[in-house]
Amino acid sequence: MTVPPLGEPIPVRHAAGDYPVYVQYGLIERLGDLARWHLPARRPVVVADSTVAGLHGSRVRAVLRSGDEAGGEIPLLTFPAGEASKTRETWARLTDDLLALGLGGEAAIVALGGGVTGDLAGFVAATYHRGIPVLHVPTTLLAMVDSAIGGKTAVDAPAGKNLIGAYHHPAAVAADPGLLATLPDGEYRGGLAEAVKHGLMLDTEYFEWIEAEAALLGARDPERVTTLVRRSAHLKATVVTADERDRGGRTALNAGHTVAHAIERASGWTVPHGDAVAIGLVAEMTLAVQLGVLEPGVVRRVAALLRRFGLPVRVSEAAGDGVTPERIVDAARGDKKNRGGAPDLRFALPAGIGRTHRDGAEWTVGVAPAVVRKVIEARM
Ligand SMILES: NC(=O)c1ccc[n+]([C@@H]2O[C@H](COP(=O)([O-])OP(=O)(O)OC[C@H]3O[C@@H](n4cnc5c(N)ncnc54)[C@H](O)[C@@H]3O)[C@@H](O)[C@H]2O)c1
Ligand SMILES: [Zn+2]
Repeated sequence: MTVPPLGEPIPVRHAAGDYPVYVQYGLIERLGDLARWHLPARRPVVVADSTVAGLHGSRVRAVLRSGDEAGGEIPLLTFPAGEASKTRETWARLTDDLLALGLGGEAAIVALGGGVTGDLAGFVAATYHRGIPVLHVPTTLLAMVDSAIGGKTAVDAPAGKNLIGAYHHPAAVAADPGLLATLPDGEYRGGLAEAVKHGLMLDTEYFEWIEAEAALLGARDPERVTTLVRRSAHLKATVVTADERDRGGRTALNAGHTVAHAIERASGWTVPHGDAVAIGLVAEMTLAVQLGVLEPGVVRRVAALLRRFGLPVRVSEAAGDGVTPERIVDAARGDKKNRGGAPDLRFALPAGIGRTHRDGAEWTVGVAPAVVRKVIEARM
């Protein structure tokens, strides 16, 4: 796949229009210009979690202020870092804060942070005064390559994750890989798991590039990390762009995630998402081998790459003893994507490096829970 040259934004198209994804090292210094361009005549308000606000809040407010014709202070709204904040309660507090600032429909949200901030602040933007623009400034690798692109916003409910939300496409996405310098290792490698998924399912050449550059990627070499964000963001942008041809691609983004979500749920969300994705990818590839759609050598190759990034590839490396194959399969059967009475679990499987398995018009494969359980047992 040809990625637009450096400096050129990656376009995302959707039913109601399109928006650019900028990926550039040091881009944050140009955020004032970007805000002026993409949020014209708006009053920007930065929303960030407590950690990101402390690390990058002042700089971002300063550059936004320099880009603001009125030159006033840029409000910063914060909430405690972590998934536990992605709730209707935090949404209510943030919208109350906006009202207290006296802002109406002329406001715009600058969502500065990881996927939690993007989903939460995106949902605030989707609902405040029936919708105000949002500019995503992702600060985790996961947010840069995945959650900031595609327009999904949501908060969690006690009954499950992401149950209350809306589609609200951003005005633009501004990804500065320089912001990743402060990201903890565990968060960084989680983003790498998603990038490996992109290469495995969609782009042979990209996967081979990740393999070749694994050492420098692991060391967060700025040039390599920027290329990785660019290529993964481009793949995500391509598959979320409304286009019949990409139906397979969209399904491909779920690779590893049926098992990953089940592990997260069965562990009471103690296993980090990226770790669960790495284990899930290898487990689902093992399943693909059993179903005869994948060569066993590919599983070894992908597992070796994930290990080089310090990611776990077996359940026991990340989860406690209580997370048994039985509990994982039960959790998978309870996953909302698999409900609707169908007894089988559904999987998007790779057919080789860079290729998604497809059977006629079907991009997913239904598998009996007993078969899945055997595979999980082998991956404990
Ligand atoms: N909308 C979508 O399409 C989509 C897709 C995938 C995931 N998600 C959602 O994304 C969320 C997970 O996102 P996440 O992994 O980015 O989590 P996150 O936003 O909680 O960030 C992870 C941690 O890293 C910290 N952090 C963020 N940027 C940092 C930086 N530059 N330096 C230092 N610390 C930093 C945060 O404070 C937080 O503690 C989940 O809620 C998930 O549901 C949404
Ligand atoms: Zn994921």
